[in-house]
Amino acid sequence: MRDFVQFLVNGREHQVRGRSVFKTLANYLREDAGATGTKVVCAEGDCGACTVLVRRRGEFAPVNSCILSVAQLDGTSIVTIEGIANGPSLHPVQQSMIDNHGSQCGYCTPGFVVAMADLAEGGPLDAQKVRAGLTGNLCRCTGYDSIIDAALKSDCSSTPRLCSRYGRVEDDGQSVLIEDGGRVYFAPVSIAEAIRFKSERARVTILNGGTDVGVWVNKRGFSAPATLSLTKIRALDDLSVEESAGQTQIVVGANVRLSAFQSFIEHRIPELHSILAIFGSPQIRNVGTLVGNIANASPIADTLPYLFVAGARIELAGTKGSRLVPIDRFYLGYKKLDLAQDEIVTRAFVPVVAASDVLKLYKVSRRTDLDISAFTAAIRMRQIDGRIAGATIAYGGVAPVVMRMPKVESFLKGKPVSIETFEAAGAIARQEVSPISDVRGSREYRLQLCENILSKFFFDAFTEAVPIDVPMDRRSSGRSSGGVTA
Ligand SMILES: Cc1cc2nc3c(=O)[nH]c(=O)nc-3n(C[C@H](O)[C@H](O)[C@H](O)COP(=O)(O)OP(=O)(O)OC[C@H]3O[C@@H](n4cnc5c(N)ncnc54)[C@H](O)[C@@H]3O)c2cc1C
Ligand code: FES
Ligand code: FES
Repeated sequence: MRDFVQFLVNGREHQVRGRSVFKTLANYLREDAGATGTKVVCAEGDCGACTVLVRRRGEFAPVNSCILSVAQLDGTSIVTIEGIANGPSLHPVQQSMIDNHGSQCGYCTPGFVVAMADLAEGGPLDAQKVRAGLTGNLCRCTGYDSIIDAALKSDCSSTPRLCSRYGRVEDDGQSVLIEDGGRVYFAPVSIAEAIRFKSERARVTILNGGTDVGVWVNKRGFSAPATLSLTKIRALDDLSVEESAGQTQIVVGANVRLSAFQSFIEHRIPELHSILAIFGSPQIRNVGTLVGNIANASPIADTLPYLFVAGARIELAGTKGSRLVPIDRFYLGYKKLDLAQDEIVTRAFVPVVAASDVLKLYKVSRRTDLDISAFTAAIRMRQIDGRIAGATIAYGGVAPVVMRMPKVESFLKGKPVSIETFEAAGAIARQEVSPISDVRGSREYRLQLCENILSKFFFDAFTEAVPIDVPMDRRSSGRSSGGVTA
């Protein structure tokens, strides 16, 4: 058992003890490591100014250092803007930013350069890849054209890859326990140790990717007396396919990052893959997890509507053993879970909806990229000879929890597949929910969405219509979900 965390910053080993372990990585880099090139602007994962590259078990990936705690970095290799240049030679993306006038005040520039250096490692770039790869980086002064030009015009073909310059850290297989000023942080290497720690304390916060928890710390003054990280438990890294009673399902361990899950399901659950493409930003998906999205219990969590209509199950482990809970029974009220004090979520079982079913997922938000949903929906339907044999519908953002729509579902059963049917179903949907008004949308707006999304589903699923407000460069994927206004 260690009482410090260790990691590499630009190839140099750091061992951190005591108070500094509880700092954000961005503050540690700036205040303790003298790496002030990393900037902090929003401190909530929204702007990417603080982007650094982190490599744990796989490749380097861009992350927001402002919402990561130092504790989470044990066993990683980190590259900051100071480590991008190769000795005295600027990295090609740095030179290209100069040549293409990609910087004015410069505050966003280190974050852009780090994200672009990572993108360039992935092979030849085109405008679509650059735009998608930079959705987590905002610039307030230069404008994006010159930055995108800089990425496209940088020639990295003869530049050594960052993973060849900066090694990986060998995991020493030790748990980490750090106590400081009444706070305790524990990162065990086994599920049994994690359960024991949680069962012995009244208030334990599980820290996974920290993309929710990190924002509470920075913006709501949240401070956990006891923090439990599951990151070092290799048994929770599972990402695999399983056949069970004729049903294909994806097994997703608690540690599986959204970006890994997204790649894994690209051809298995393309609709959910499309939703994940507009989930946060690459920086958020590279640390955030599916299990974190489930356990955070937000009624507007983007993955939940699919999990509801697919019939996902959540595996919980506690002192009395493991149990499986159907996802629609996991939520007992706003942010209230069927999770005992000693329990942790270990895995999610995510069924693949049969190809014979029609499935559409919707995320409605003010912007397409890097925005939290105002409303979400999943509609799954089976039709036989022009009649609806069965429908499963889940809405998010209209109640304290994601909800199934049983009245609409039973109305649709046996009806002909026609716009009249879906318009009538929309009128019923309006009666079945009672949304509130908040910053993301008024009650009336959400009611209208509940109604209109069913007609939109009809057009998306049963006609050739293309949603008019999906940008041209995103239509080629053929998906119908994403940032749409119903
Ligand atoms: C800039 C930004 C953009 C975002 N965009 C989106 C978006 O587009 N769509 C969306 O749905 N969300 C979004 N989020 C929210 C967040 O990224 C997701 O909810 C993410 O999936 C959380 O995963 P995590 O691993 O980071 O969770 P954490 O922050 O580590 O944890 C979240 C919650 O789950 C609990 N928890 C985590 N793991 C376990 C476990 N194994 N057992 C029990 N409890 C556990 C934690 O204690 C905490 O209460 C965004 C967040 C930010 C900062
Ligand atoms: S400072 Fe804005 S994402 Fe970190
Ligand atoms: S150059 Fe000023 S914020 Fe981007």
